[in-house]
Order: sequence, then structure tokens, then C-alpha cells
Amino acid sequence: MTRSPNAPRPLAAGNWKMNGLFPAGAEVESLVGRVKTDTPACDILICPPATLIRPFAGAWGQRGIAFGGQDCHFAEKGAHTGDISAEMIKDAGGDYVIVGHSERRTFYGEGDEMVSHKAAAAHRAGIIAIVCVGETLEERDAGKAIDIVSQQVDFSLPTLSTGANTVVAYEPVWAIGTGRTPSNEDIATMHAAIRSRLTARFGAGEGGQFRILYGGSVKPANAKEILGLPDVDGALVGGASLLARDFDAILDAYRG
Ligand code: 13P
Repeated sequence: MTRSPNAPRPLAAGNWKMNGLFPAGAEVESLVGRVKTDTPACDILICPPATLIRPFAGAWGQRGIAFGGQDCHFAEKGAHTGDISAEMIKDAGGDYVIVGHSERRTFYGEGDEMVSHKAAAAHRAGIIAIVCVGETLEERDAGKAIDIVSQQVDFSLPTLSTGANTVVAYEPVWAIGTGRTPSNEDIATMHAAIRSRLTARFGAGEGGQFRILYGGSVKPANAKEILGLPDVDGALVGGASLLARDFDAILDAYRG
């Protein structure tokens, strides 16, 4: 794939969601075996369930794959039964945390302000926030997709966000787990709109350094064309990241 020399290093991230027991480490082991013989031109990340971050990072954290969480509380510690903090993810060996995934926004009512607090918590803990944004089908059909996503970008990223501590993931809600994806043109248009919000707010230099991932039904069959689009700096992959064979086939998009 031809990329401009100033483009940020791409990130291929797997979001396992609420899938995976300890034996699923065999898939990570298999992925490590597949990537070690080449030097992929991208960073590789797996966000397993929180229970698996420590064992996975302990076993494979130094072998070319980073690990991360799927959500965090905005506080460092305290009386928040069931929650985990960004500091705990870092302590377990995580380098990243996904915040504002549409499943959190939909099922737990998380809005942009909450997402921004969570991203700030990741920065406080010294890990990278992957901030998810994306429109519903209703919003797209009403012609509001760009406005909605631009607003999410404006209000979900805290003031101290930089290209080094924050990744933006565009995941149209209607494309998640459905097998449907927007047209290449729609993806490119949205990524350009996100880039322009980032450069307007953080400056042309810094705004250009944020990685903008596409997520929603990325699979081996469509990865190469999606990942070749302008301003697409990687993918956030759900279902196809669970099996090393599929995720590795997506990584092929970054190999010569
Ligand atoms: P799918 O790749 O299964 O559509 O999920 C996308 C996603 O939600 C990643 O965060």
C-alpha cells in the first residue's frame, strides 16, 4: 500500500468484545507465530475481555502485539462496583483502551461528555485512548451522518488529546456486526471530515498525526480496499479478530 511519508503508522486493532475464555490465548499464540516472520507496517493491538489482559500481555506483550481494554471508568479508583480504571488496565499490561464504543453508548447511555472523561482518564494513566464515533442508520438516511460524527469528534476528545495519546475510530453503528459497510466513497468522505475537525481544533501538524481507524464489518475480503483509502490509518475489527487466521488475513493489507 502506498502511504504518504507523513502519514501516521497504521494500527490494526481487534476488539474481542465479550468473547474469549483463557484458552482463547491459543489464537494469540497463533497470531504471534504468523506475524513474527515479517515486519508488518502497522501496530497490532488486541483488546480482549479485561480478565485476559494480564495473562495475554504477560505471555505475548513483548512479541509484537499490544493489548488493551474495551472500556474504563473515568475515576482512578473508588466505590464503583464492577468498573475498572485506566490505571488498572495499564497495571495489567494494557497500552490502549477503547472508549465510547457504540455498544457502550447504546446500552449504557454514555454520551460525548462521559466519553471525553474516559479518554482523559486514559491519558492520566499514560495509555492511548481509542475514541469511537459513528452515526446510526436513521441519522445517515436523514443526511446527518457528517454533522453527527463531527459533533462526536468535537465533544468526545478531551482538550489534551494528541496524535500520540488518542486514536479516533469511525464505526457506523449500522455496519457493526451486520456484514454491511459504507461505500468506499462514504468512508473516505467521513474520514476526511474527521481529519478536518482534528486539524481545525489541534492544528494542521498535530491534527494530521491522529490515526483514524475504520470499523464495522471489516473482513479479509474487504480489508485491502478499505485500508487503502485516504485518511484510513487502520481498522478496528470485531468478529474477524477472534480467529488468528482471519485477523492475519486482514494484516495482509499492510504487507507488500
Ligand atoms: P465487527 O467487525 O464485528 O462488525 O465489529 C466492529 C466493532 O464494533 C469493532 O469495535
